[in-house]
Amino acid sequence: EHAEPAAPSTAQVLVASNRGPITYTLGEDGTLDAKRGGGGLVSGLSAVDDKLWVCAALGDGDREAVRRGVGEPGVRMLDIDAEVHADAYNGIANSVLWFVHHLLYQTPVEPVFDAEFRRQWASYETYNRAFAQALAEEAGTGASVLVQDYHLALVPGMLRELRPDLKIGHFSHTPWAPVDYFRLLPDDIGEQLLRGILGADRAAFLTRRWADAFIGCCTEILGGTGRTRIGVHGLGADADFLRRRSQEADVDERMEALREQVGEGRKTIVRVDRTELSKNIVRGLHAYRALLDAHPEWRERVVHVAFAYPSRQDLEVYRDYTAAVQTLATEINGAYGTESWTPVVLHVKDDFARSLAAYRLADVALVNPIRDGMNLVAKEVPVVSDHGCALVLSREAGAYEELGEDAIVVNPYDVVGTAEALHEALSMSAEERTGRTKRLAEAATALPPQQWFLDQLEALRQE
Ligand code: G6P
Repeated sequence: EHAEPAAPSTAQVLVASNRGPITYTLGEDGTLDAKRGGGGLVSGLSAVDDKLWVCAALGDGDREAVRRGVGEPGVRMLDIDAEVHADAYNGIANSVLWFVHHLLYQTPVEPVFDAEFRRQWASYETYNRAFAQALAEEAGTGASVLVQDYHLALVPGMLRELRPDLKIGHFSHTPWAPVDYFRLLPDDIGEQLLRGILGADRAAFLTRRWADAFIGCCTEILGGTGRTRIGVHGLGADADFLRRRSQEADVDERMEALREQVGEGRKTIVRVDRTELSKNIVRGLHAYRALLDAHPEWRERVVHVAFAYPSRQDLEVYRDYTAAVQTLATEINGAYGTESWTPVVLHVKDDFARSLAAYRLADVALVNPIRDGMNLVAKEVPVVSDHGCALVLSREAGAYEELGEDAIVVNPYDVVGTAEALHEALSMSAEERTGRTKRLAEAATALPPQQWFLDQLEALRQE
């Protein structure tokens, strides 16, 4: 009796990210329910054969799936110790690195880099090492490995040591912090992060602005980017998918329901976000209230349709933020609402079909993040809009680089300015709105996800 030889590692294209393409939930009766995710990487990767996606098990369902050997071909989920993962994901990635790159700290009192932070940092290293080891095991000779985002900043450096034969790319889906802000991080940690990414052959970003910020950090702190090439790939909206999906029956149904909530003949200002500190939802509501104050002619004639979907609810600041959004929406409805008019319609339960319905219906889309890697909502709305939609867009969103010309651009901190932009957007003629929407849709779909991914792969393979 002899054991089967272990299958040789052969995958030629590997992707590594914290969140994978599939999540499992564990039912009361012990059954596992699989749910597929969407997004740029999922459709991007569909253009490639002979691939493997390495991701983390994120909850009890995922962990149970790994233990039972349940899975999908082409996906390897890493069952990293739950506490190590929580430290790395909630503690370091989402409470430190996300905050640094989005400029979210209230700096007079935070951050505090204490012993607890150092302990969490050790978990972040362990978590990154688990990815590097799995990738080193799975990659065929000379394979290309595309490492995603701030969760895995140390992986390129670690993987290069284990497997110098590989082509390693790193892609940041977030902004990159300007050097003065990046320097909030303890010096050794900042250096480790930069050197980790510089372990890649190529480090890529969503816009020139974030790439330049990264180069700035490397130049100031390390004296340069070394042998790592820097690239920019501005992910576009998936026009084919969106146009098809937004015409399906469930979307029509939700449009009917939304129309009813909004009321006959009223205009809509739509926003769709994760309930995320950087999305600036609270200031968006303040701006809407300022609009109703400065231009009372809009009362009864407009409804703010705001979808704020749950995100990172393990973190207290996110729970507080969610509560603040709900409180302010209720307050505005109490202060301005009438028998026949609810000024703010807020939905907090994730529903993609309803998001598409709102995109189709919108007269104005409000995208006002204080900082955002790209922001795909700004790119998706013009693609599916039924009758043209004016876009109020923050100059701090990556999408501004491509959409700035035909959007109404705002400083996201300026509530009065944002209110005036909303007024201008609501007042825009149908003709102008349609023209702008057409140009926005063209710019937004210039680099569809599959091409976005293939471009990166090709650039990585070129020496
Ligand atoms: C951003 C990040 C992604 C992340 C997503 C959702 O887009 O760049 O890496 O997956 O937010 O956040 P979550 O913490 O739920 O994965």
